Amino acid sequence: MQNFSDIQNLVREDLKAVDDLLINRLESEVALINQVSSYIINAGGKRIRPLLVVLMSRALGYQGINHHVMAVVIELIHTATLIHDDIVDESEVRRGTETPNQVWGNAASVLVGDFIYSRAFEIMVEPNSMEIMKVLSKATNAIAEGEVLQLLNIGNKELKEADYLKVIEKKTACLFQAATQIAAIISDSDSSIENQMKSFGLNLGNAFQIVDDVLDYQSNEELLGKRIGDDLSEGKMTLPLIHSLSNSSKATNKKLRDIISNNNVEEIDTVLEIFQETGSIDYTINRAKEISEKAKQCLVNLNESAYKNALSLLCDISVERIS
Ligand code: IPE
Ligand code: IPE
Ligand code: MG
Ligand code: MG
Repeated sequence: MQNFSDIQNLVREDLKAVDDLLINRLESEVALINQVSSYIINAGGKRIRPLLVVLMSRALGYQGINHHVMAVVIELIHTATLIHDDIVDESEVRRGTETPNQVWGNAASVLVGDFIYSRAFEIMVEPNSMEIMKVLSKATNAIAEGEVLQLLNIGNKELKEADYLKVIEKKTACLFQAATQIAAIISDSDSSIENQMKSFGLNLGNAFQIVDDVLDYQSNEELLGKRIGDDLSEGKMTLPLIHSLSNSSKATNKKLRDIISNNNVEEIDTVLEIFQETGSIDYTINRAKEISEKAKQCLVNLNESAYKNALSLLCDISVERIS
């Protein structure tokens, strides 16, 4: 096993079942809902969260079928947050195609996002587990908090790394954590293993978002399926910027502040030169690596299996996708 498709192949049947369910379970009698939701689901995406649910369930020896429905719920919550996130971020491209807000406008997109959220909640009650409902409602609430916190932090040049980490933990890592925790819950793991798997998801989610924030500066649209420079153009204070601001000379610091204040995405090359000068991309990648190593450590008590190896590889790949 070496790459992402090897990991997907390991659980191909599970992933196929999840994908079929995803499409079927979004059915609505309102045509516009079907149109928008099948558009965003069929646009693809990496399906990394469903993959996590399935791999973790398998790694813990799960033999039932609830992991499929749980993977669907997590992907639906993720999809709803993306639709809302793209409205807030005024993003025009997602999954290699136009965002729903670009095609149908903000009003329709907010409402269909709400539909997808609430459909996720309808499905989530099916396993009849109060524990699962607690985990997912808590995670969804944290995502909303993270997005609002991030909004408050827009353009704040005094933001510290710890403030940034708080935002990404809430907006992204909590859902990764919920994915792995639910796998532990349905597998009847003891509380010590459940906590270790929770921690695995949380660390992986944090590393994943840190890398996404680097890619927003230095990937390309074709590869990422999203427009490069979105974060800069909206004044989103991600780790490369935060690091650069506190490690630059006076003159450079002033230049960087001006670019942020002016939401000047045309200056992205200048920003990348500044990052080069301050070592901010290297710093950020190293932080992601440290955190993904922490995630891998959380797997030590799992029995050896191909699924465990896949989970560990997923940590490496999440960071390596940067280069
Ligand atoms: C995008 O998530 C939002 C972040 C947390 C960075 P993904 O990168 O998993 O998006 P898709 O589902 O593959 O499109
Ligand atoms: C992730 O934040 C969005 C959520 C977790 C809700 P970003 O704004 O960085 O995600 P992208 O880059 O638009 O996918
Ligand atoms: Mg966004
Ligand atoms: Mg991003």
